[in-house]
Amino acid sequence: MDDISRARLHAARQQFSPEVTYLNTATHGLPPLLARQALERYIHDASAGRFQPSDSDDVVASARSAYARLVGVPAERIAVGTHVSQFTGTIAASLPAGSEVLVARNEFTSVVFPFMSREADGLRVREVPLDRLPDEVGPNTSLVAVAAVQSATGAIAPVQDLITACADNGARLMLDTTQSFGWLPVPADRVDLTVCSTYKWALGPRGAAFLTGTSEALAALRPLAPNWFAGTDPWSSLYGGPLRLSDAPRRLDLAPVWPAWYGLLPALELIEEVGVQTIREHDTALANRLRTAMDLEPAGSAIVSLEVSEEAARRAARAGIATSARAGRMRASFHLYNDEDDVDRLVKALT
Ligand SMILES: Cc1ncc(COP(=O)(O)O)c(C=O)c1O
Repeated sequence: MDDISRARLHAARQQFSPEVTYLNTATHGLPPLLARQALERYIHDASAGRFQPSDSDDVVASARSAYARLVGVPAERIAVGTHVSQFTGTIAASLPAGSEVLVARNEFTSVVFPFMSREADGLRVREVPLDRLPDEVGPNTSLVAVAAVQSATGAIAPVQDLITACADNGARLMLDTTQSFGWLPVPADRVDLTVCSTYKWALGPRGAAFLTGTSEALAALRPLAPNWFAGTDPWSSLYGGPLRLSDAPRRLDLAPVWPAWYGLLPALELIEEVGVQTIREHDTALANRLRTAMDLEPAGSAIVSLEVSEEAARRAARAGIATSARAGRMRASFHLYNDEDDVDRLVKALT
């Protein structure tokens, strides 16, 4: 990492003040100080009767543009919403009966339930091990839906092989970037659809999500919850017919949860300032420091899944270290606010 990147990272880290050793970004990220201040201003204005809903339009538009710059997809091909499951549900609803959807075994349920809930309508969902996904794509596959980084284990999906396998078989690829956006770039411009909840590595409050896609893949989607915000002109779409939804992918927008966007915008700007590549180097170096200390081979993920005894997990909790328990193992995750001391504290508690 060069000196400028190191200085930017150092400056950004001043925005965080956890009161514990926080190794749990895979559950939710810590909002930076500027996000906290924006939320406080929003609450103050709303309580004082000074908040105007239309004031939030610029905030949502700026967040959409910041996300567009970060993922390399034009803002016109990005829809805003609240949850991954909302967008996965939209995608599931667009598939005709008989379609095969390939998913990874033990995938986070917001990625798979929306498809499984349509099995009664004739959708066929096939679960296979993550590393087998590219080989299992066949001529009958309509869609592969997978998280770029697995929630429970931190395993990274074979994205390049999936792009090739899907192209070879005429299938679409949907990537969930909730556990990767902010530290692991994915080639979103070459993936049919991506969905992302922004309360983890994107450091926003819960309640904001993005959908991106190619023009063709987005054109195939119909909004599940058509609403005024998706109208041709939102503020002229508040009452009555006729139906006047935007023709653009914005027709898939869900009216914003205002505070979520006030908190998210400064967080996205902070990630942009530091740079995803710098964050990736920092996060994975810390994860690898833990792996090495625990006699594991280094890997490329910011999430580490460890087999630890219940007693060791209790010792870590007593030492004020926040991790999570997933798939019967301890999940520790590292982001820009963590440092080597955090790793060493966990190692000390576990060994
Ligand atoms: C891979 C992945 N996708 C999505 C989510 C969140 O989904 P939703 O926004 O539907 O709550 C999580 C939360 O842990 C996740 O790990």
